Amino acid sequence: MGRDLTFGQDILDYIAASTPPEPPLYRRLRAETAALGEVSAMQIGWTQAHFMQLAARMVRARRYLEIGVFTGYSTLAVADALPPTGRVVALDISEEWTAMGRRYWKAAKVEKKIRLVLGDARKTLKALERTSLGAFDLAFIDADKENLAHYFEHTLRLLRPGGVVMIDNVLWSGAVIDPSDRRESTKALRAFNRRLVKDKRVAFAMIPLGDGLTVALKK
Ligand SMILES: C[S@@+](CC[C@H](N)C(=O)[O-])C[C@H]1O[C@@H](n2cnc3c(N)ncnc32)[C@H](O)[C@@H]1O
Repeated sequence: MGRDLTFGQDILDYIAASTPPEPPLYRRLRAETAALGEVSAMQIGWTQAHFMQLAARMVRARRYLEIGVFTGYSTLAVADALPPTGRVVALDISEEWTAMGRRYWKAAKVEKKIRLVLGDARKTLKALERTSLGAFDLAFIDADKENLAHYFEHTLRLLRPGGVVMIDNVLWSGAVIDPSDRRESTKALRAFNRRLVKDKRVAFAMIPLGDGLTVALKK
C-alpha cells in the first residue's frame, strides 16, 4: 500500500461530482469572470473554494485575511463560511476587477463582513501589522508569486498561534518541476516550497488540489 493515485481529468470530474454543487450565485460570478478572457484562469475552482470553506469551519475562523482578490470569488466563498460576526480583510491592487466582486458580495449579503483594501499588498500588510498582530485565524495568499515570501512572513505575524494560511498555485501548472522554466514566478515558488520544508514555525501539507495548495498551521 501507500501508492498514490495518478489522476487525470476523469478523476477530477469524479471529485467535482462528489462535491456539493457550486451555488448559483458563484456560478454567475464564474461566468462573468470567464468573459474577461485569459485572466479568468486566475480564479480558483469551486472544489478548492469548497475545501477553503471547510478549512474556515475547521479552525472556527472569525477573521480571514486574503491577499489577491481578483473578481472576489475566493473572498465570497470564505466570507460565506464565516459566522455572522466574521470579518474579512481583502487586499488587491485592482479597482476594476474587485468592483465585480463587490457586486456579488452584496448579492450574497456578505458585503458587511468584507473590508477591501486597494493598494500594494506589501504596504497594506505592513500597516496591518501595526494594529492586527496575531489577530487572524485564517489567511489565503494568492497574489503575485514574486512577493510570496514577503506575504508569507507578514501573514505569519498576523495569524494567531493555531491559525492557518493557505498558499495557492504551489505546483504552478507543473512548472515547479520543469528545469527549463526559469520565470521569476516559478523560481519564487520553488524557493518557497523548498524553504517551507525546514520552517519550524509551521506544520504544513502540500495538497494536489487546484493548482496545488499548501496548508500551513502556525505553531
Ligand atoms: C490569482 S488572482 C486572485 C484570485 C482570487 N483569489 C480568486 O479566487 O478569484 C491575483 C490577484 O492579485 C492581485 N495582485 C497582484 N499583485 C498585487 C500586489 N502587489 N498587491 C495586491 N494585489 C496584487 C491582482 O490584482 C489579482 O487580482
